[in-house]
Amino acid sequence: MKKKLNVGLIGYGFMGRTHSNAYCKVGHFFDVPYQPVLRVVCGLEEKVAKAFAEQWGYESYTTDWHKVIEDDNVDVVDICVPNNVHAEIAIAAAKAGKAIVCEKPLALNGVQGKKMVDAIEKAGVANLVSFNYRRVPAVTLAKMLIDEGRLGRIFHYRANFLQDWTISTKVPQGGMATWRLDVKAAGSGVTGDLLAHCIDTAMWQNGPIGSVCAMTETFVKERMHVETGKVEPVGIDDACTFFCRFDNGSLGNFESTRYARGHKALYTFEINGEHASIAWDLHDLHRLSYFDHRDESIVRGWRSVHVTDSDMPYMGHWWVPGLQIGYEHTFVHQAADFLVNLAKGKPTSPTFREALATQYVCDAVLASAKEKTWKKVKKA
Ligand SMILES: NC(=O)c1ccc[n+]([C@@H]2O[C@H](COP(=O)([O-])OP(=O)(O)OC[C@H]3O[C@@H](n4cnc5c(N)ncnc54)[C@H](O)[C@@H]3O)[C@@H](O)[C@H]2O)c1
Repeated sequence: MKKKLNVGLIGYGFMGRTHSNAYCKVGHFFDVPYQPVLRVVCGLEEKVAKAFAEQWGYESYTTDWHKVIEDDNVDVVDICVPNNVHAEIAIAAAKAGKAIVCEKPLALNGVQGKKMVDAIEKAGVANLVSFNYRRVPAVTLAKMLIDEGRLGRIFHYRANFLQDWTISTKVPQGGMATWRLDVKAAGSGVTGDLLAHCIDTAMWQNGPIGSVCAMTETFVKERMHVETGKVEPVGIDDACTFFCRFDNGSLGNFESTRYARGHKALYTFEINGEHASIAWDLHDLHRLSYFDHRDESIVRGWRSVHVTDSDMPYMGHWWVPGLQIGYEHTFVHQAADFLVNLAKGKPTSPTFREALATQYVCDAVLASAKEKTWKKVKKA
């Protein structure tokens, strides 16, 4: 019998579902040392929390997150609430000695993020921030190829995260899912919501970012606020583009917007090295494009590697070669890595401190756009 690990989930929305699904599946596909037990779910509306508990098999539900922290039987607190609530819950959970999984971005800003890191490190609790795209097998494979030196010296890193769901002026700010448009709840717009993913992946693959130069725009300046019922100014960045210099000397070029008509979640990156290049696209997430200049010229060209063979990252745990997996599996991989490391007392990347480094890049990007100048990135 595996040791039980009781999960207290805070937030039953989009991420609450992906994390719950991961806890349900992880033990079936990975040889993990713990059996996650869905102990308690918490969210703002009692009726919805109750229905969620019934649907996913949580033993109990509450509308007060403090009860999750106070529950002696909860081992892991999993934070899936809007960004402005992360810090308070994480700091309380750390003081209570709980292991913590927290959704991205870590916090509203670096100052708040630093307080979280201090609390977590002081308490010495296991911690992980859910930058799940690292655990798409093709993205993990890209990191392996870079670490093996196949690309040689890296010159360029470019990434985009494009959506189109806020073009209508009728989309409100505040409330379930649309809290993303309310700067008080989100901290920033596409920078913290979407570019944070690109920055996390980029620094994991290509090392720290040292300085940035950014521009942002808020295309729709006023929107109705769900909570007040009034039309209020919009404080988030609808679009953000930035250049950067990585510490290894390579140049970065990042863009995110929610105004790219036709794109729903087009996260792409391309990395150009001395010998080889890599490209990836979330809409075709099981493929990795690879070009190697060392190939014989008559067959040289971009290869589209179908990342499904059992010797590719995570894939040996799933079906047979040729059969794909998708978005939800990134959270299963994250849960598997977290549980294995937890049993060994080892950290799982990205930790709160690693996520703070991403937060500092976001801060520098927003400051650069505001002040119209290059900004150095603080080291975490
Ligand atoms: N890793 C990813 O790819 C990814 C994708 C989407 C969202 N996120 C992150 O996940 C977090 C949640 O986003 P979401 O899309 O699931 O949001 P959502 O709007 O779908 O759900 C938010 C949940 O938080 C609950 N909540 C809000 N305030 C609360 C409070 N004070 N106490 C208890 N519960 C509270 C709501 O009841 C709701 O259940 C955010 O930090 C977001 O940035 C990450």
